[in-house]
This record gives sequence, C-alpha cells and structure tokens, in this order.
Amino acid sequence: MNNILEIEKLNVVYRIPEGRRHVLRDVSLELKKGEIMAVVGESGCGKSTLVNTIISLLPSNAMIESGRIIIDGKDITNADSYELSSVRRNRLGVVFQDPFSALDPLYTIEKQFHETIRLTEKLSKAESHDKAAAMLRACGIKNAEEIMKKYPHELSGGLRQRVMIAMALINDPTLVIADEPTTALDVTIQKEILQLLRTLARERQLTVLFITHSQDIAFEIADRITVFYGGRIVEQGTRDDLFSFPLHPYTQALLNTIPSIRYGKNERKLMPIEGEIFSFLNETEGCSFAPRCPYARESCFNKAPAVREYNGHKCACEMEEKW
Ligand SMILES: Nc1ncnc2c1ncn2[C@@H]1O[C@H](COP(=O)(O)OP(=O)(O)O)[C@@H](O)[C@H]1O
Ligand code: SF4
Ligand SMILES: [Mg+2]
Repeated sequence: MNNILEIEKLNVVYRIPEGRRHVLRDVSLELKKGEIMAVVGESGCGKSTLVNTIISLLPSNAMIESGRIIIDGKDITNADSYELSSVRRNRLGVVFQDPFSALDPLYTIEKQFHETIRLTEKLSKAESHDKAAAMLRACGIKNAEEIMKKYPHELSGGLRQRVMIAMALINDPTLVIADEPTTALDVTIQKEILQLLRTLARERQLTVLFITHSQDIAFEIADRITVFYGGRIVEQGTRDDLFSFPLHPYTQALLNTIPSIRYGKNERKLMPIEGEIFSFLNETEGCSFAPRCPYARESCFNKAPAVREYNGHKCACEMEEKW
C-alpha cells in the first residue's frame, strides 16, 4: 500500500438555520507517496471544507455524512480525539493561507518550534534549537538564529509563510496539506514560496495536497490535478492529461483563462466563464456546472453525471462523444 491519503466517497454537510448545506459530494481521491496533488476550484467550492475534514478540524455545525478518510493506512473517519491528535501530531503538516492562524502571537518563533518538536521527540533545548535553525535554513531563511528570537508580528508576510512551512515540516510529516499558502502574498513572494515548496517536496519526497483557487498555480506546482466544482470532483488527472486533453467543460473554460501558458503571447485567448458562480443555496441533483455549461442538455439538470475513467484520467460529464 503506497497511498498516503485515501478519500472514499466523502459527503460533508453543514447544518444551517435554513436546513442543510451539502458541501462535499461523493469526493474520492488518492495520493501516492512523493506526489504533489493540487485541488483547484473557485472560491466557495468546498476546498477548505475538504482540508478541515482531513485534518479533523471541522466546525461544530459540520457533519461527515458518509465516506472514509485513510491517512497512511490509518482510518481516521471514526477515530476518537486521542487517535486524531496523534495522527495530527505525527503524520500531518499543515500550511494555512494566514500564518497567524497557526503561529501564536505571544511566543517567539523559537519557543513555538520547541513546543512543536516536543510533541513528537524528546530533545534538549539546544538540540531542539539546532533542529529548528536547520529547518529554517532549509526554508531559505539565512539569518535563522536572528529570526528565532522574533515574534510573528515582527516578520514580513513572506518570511512568516517560510516559518510556517518550516514549522509544518519540522516533525517530518507523512502528508503536507497547504491551503492557499500563497494567496495573501504579492506576486514575487508568491513565486518564491511556490519554488520553495516544490524544491522541498522534491528533495524530501514529500506527499503534498496543495489547495488553490488559481489554475496557474495548480499547473505550476502539481504532478496531478483535481478540479473541484460545487463540492464535486469534476476532473482529475496528471498535469499533462489536464493540460493537453482537458475533458470537462469547466476545466476547458479554466484553461482558456490561462493565456500565458496555453497560448503564445500573440494568441491571447481570454474566455471568462459565463454565468453565475455556483452557490450551495441553489442545490441541484443534476450536474453542478449545468447552469453555466455551453453543452448542457435537459438530462444534465436532473442527474449528477457519473465519473468515468480512462488510464487514471477521470471526468464527471455526460458528454459521451468526449470519450
Ligand atoms: N461553518 C459553516 N457553516 C455553513 N456553511 C459553511 C461553513 N463553512 C463554510 N461554509 C460554506 O461551504 C461552502 C464551501 O466553503 P469552503 O470550503 O470554505 O470553500 P473554499 O475553500 O473553496 O472557498 C461555502 O458555500 C461556504 O459558505
Ligand atoms: S454533464 Fe452536462 S452540464 Fe455537466 S459538464 Fe457535462 S455537458 Fe455540461
Ligand atoms: Mg478556502
């Protein structure tokens, strides 16, 4: 078994005053050791709900209705709180969009590293200090000793994110989850952080689930890409599968909005996706993309399309002529 993450037919629902919001719908995916998988989709499509389900940090009004999550062979779907915290400590490293959500403003970076390292290893203060400094340097921070004495608010956004990545990797996690880690940064810093993550992933054979709303970033960082729409996986395949042969109309529309990669400089072809962004308030049993899909037919509105697969390239669309 070399799958580090296995998600099987996961359904997650939020209870809201008006009833229920069915946000993750039959989500299945596997992640092999050493693989970088990007999950890409518009804001509000359920990406963070997926992350919070995997790391067992769903808010109290959320419920896993069905499905299974297996991390490194351990089924955590019905695990008790002791087992969950052990999985979180020993197997998961998480990088959030906002490092402040993970870094404590009241403690120096050094103290926070000590506390994190202490969760899995008994090291002396000096050993823990050296381990943290080495990891900060691996994350491109040359003046690691100086940075360790500082508080999070004393660091720039890019530096804080590097510290966050170092903290996520310090206990040698089996699975690294990054939820929009570069979204709050400006473009130059964003590029540096992506480059850093890719280099670390290659050097350390990390298994990474990388969440992003940007198709450019997904294509830049991932080996395989999962395209999310309205809480469902609509397409999944290798980077090359999706780039050269996108099957789902939503993926095709997303790709048409990346002129710089897909088309030459003089052939810019920007095709914004028509129609309103998906809303869970207008629930449908049919294809979530139907209201915006140029190929939609009546049956698409009534029944969710089945997922078909050819050589690992999966797509949920009823248009048979694609296959
Ligand atoms: N605690 C909650 N209660 C009710 N609805 C929620 C809650 N958290 C998120 N949602 C809704 O779930 C949907 C997916 O949200 P989210 O997973 O944050 O999407 P993304 O990360 O792709 O932007 C959105 O419609 C959002 O409003
Ligand atoms: S199932 Fe129908 S509506 Fe959905 S993407 Fe395919 S053609 Fe479009
Ligand atoms: Mg999110």
